[in-house]
Amino acid sequence: MTDVLTDAVLTNEEKLAHLDAEQLRQLIGLVEYDASHDPFPVIGWDAVVWVVGNATQTALHYRTAYGMRLVAYAGPETGQRDHKAYVLTSGGCRFVIMGGVAPDSPLLDHHRRHGDGVSDISLEVPDVDVCVAHAVKVGARVLVEPHDLSDEHGTIRTATMAAYGDTVHTLVDRSRYTGPYLPGYVAQDDTLVADRPPVFWALDHVVGNVELGRMDEWVDFYHRVMGFTNMAEFIGDDIATDYSALMSKVVASGNHRVKFPLNEPAIAKKKSQIDEFLEFYVGPGAQHLALATDDIVAAVDTLRAAGVEFLATPDSYYTDPELRRRIGEVRVPIETLQERGILVDRDEDGYLLQIFTRPIGDRPTVFFELIERHGSLGFGKGNFKALFQAIEREQERRGNL
Ligand SMILES: [Fe+2]
Repeated sequence: MTDVLTDAVLTNEEKLAHLDAEQLRQLIGLVEYDASHDPFPVIGWDAVVWVVGNATQTALHYRTAYGMRLVAYAGPETGQRDHKAYVLTSGGCRFVIMGGVAPDSPLLDHHRRHGDGVSDISLEVPDVDVCVAHAVKVGARVLVEPHDLSDEHGTIRTATMAAYGDTVHTLVDRSRYTGPYLPGYVAQDDTLVADRPPVFWALDHVVGNVELGRMDEWVDFYHRVMGFTNMAEFIGDDIATDYSALMSKVVASGNHRVKFPLNEPAIAKKKSQIDEFLEFYVGPGAQHLALATDDIVAAVDTLRAAGVEFLATPDSYYTDPELRRRIGEVRVPIETLQERGILVDRDEDGYLLQIFTRPIGDRPTVFFELIERHGSLGFGKGNFKALFQAIEREQERRGNL
């Protein structure tokens, strides 16, 4: 790691979004990284691929509420009989929203089992074959061997590896490709959100929930297979309330673009929120995605105006003298945060502002976090208790506590 961060580290999507390296350092804690001796170099996220019950309406929601831009599409009109897929971007972040069209589509089976959720946390890598060769050597399960996909825009090299539950990591080398997403997708010109500034600029982290006793196994997987390193560790009392508890560890890629906190339930008096997730997602899966913004106040206002609901934070959170002392000075008055329920956490490197949405689908499973970093590279450890108490209130309303 050095102090010099040049624009050479930027992905194509980040360049297209007019982001520079310094902005990414602030937004997501991007660091310079020498990958020359890395057996599994990772550039960053390629896409978050969702399987949902109604891709057409979900994609529209992300455009109208979250201000994401539709950039590519595949479906019956483009020769894809089985499903529809909408490719959306916000800043340097890409979502692909998929839904089954043909009644026998495997996507409908995925949705019947898991509900709306993340099926593929796809990663951009410089050399798919190098990564897969290393992954196989250390015992990872490869679901789709490396192969080329080509069209008039060039060639993509790709392969797919198994991760927790039914979640997979597709590896993508797009260095020889200029199309809008993958071969078979047709570029779209989105006039709906054309002039709106993005609500978020990048994906900060994706949290995985795994079964009791399996967290260390998955931490080891990301160490061994992808060469990720530990970023932080939260165990026991840090994130326990009287009723529910969890354990969490964070692994990250060398450049810190890709960060995976991994949670498992811990034993407490009542059912952990992780258990609720595992029950309703029917196994391990992606619990929340943190979207990086440089103005969380504006982002919350935009999303609330569009009907997005956030977890409530009790007024006691803001009036607690201990918390006030710990937070210190932040860029906006505490009252501004309190009105919106935005949480604050501070560590030796700086502070962060964060807020969590309610589950985005019908099941109490996946949700979003908005995060605005000011030097802190943490994940809101100091807020876990306040957050969990808020989640427990909602669990209780659903009859699942
Ligand atoms: Fe988070």
